[in-house]
Amino acid sequence: MQEAHVWNDRLDLGHEVLDGEHHLQIAMMGALAEAIEQRRPWMARRLADQVAAYSAAHFEGERLVMATSEYPRAAEHGAEHQAILKHVDELRELLRTEAFDEAHPLALDLLTGIGAHISSSDRAFAQHASERRKHRARQQ
Ligand SMILES: [Fe+2]
Ligand SMILES: [Fe+2]
Repeated sequence: MQEAHVWNDRLDLGHEVLDGEHHLQIAMMGALAEAIEQRRPWMARRLADQVAAYSAAHFEGERLVMATSEYPRAAEHGAEHQAILKHVDELRELLRTEAFDEAHPLALDLLTGIGAHISSSDRAFAQHASERRKHRARQQ
């Protein structure tokens, strides 16, 4: 399973729900890169559709957490999500025409990009949300 190679401790944010979703997002993205490398069109297209749907739902969940915790950099964070979804769509388009040679480097870039987003941007907002929770708890 690809996940063992892709996941690393830098991706753990200490937030149970987010960490669970990130594990799944990275595992799917890793499986997608593998299916492309192995030139398995049906599997690759199916996984790409799942990555797109799952990522959109995950990002919507993060948007709500950012809104409820009044995260000041929510707009920039949302723009990063949009850029990731745009890349996933480009990848799906390449897979529609079975352009595996172009799709593979894009899939690897996406995997790295999502990892970087989690370990820096998601970490920053998860930290903000947890400090906000503690602050509210102290006020009660
Ligand atoms: Fe995330
Ligand atoms: Fe995010």
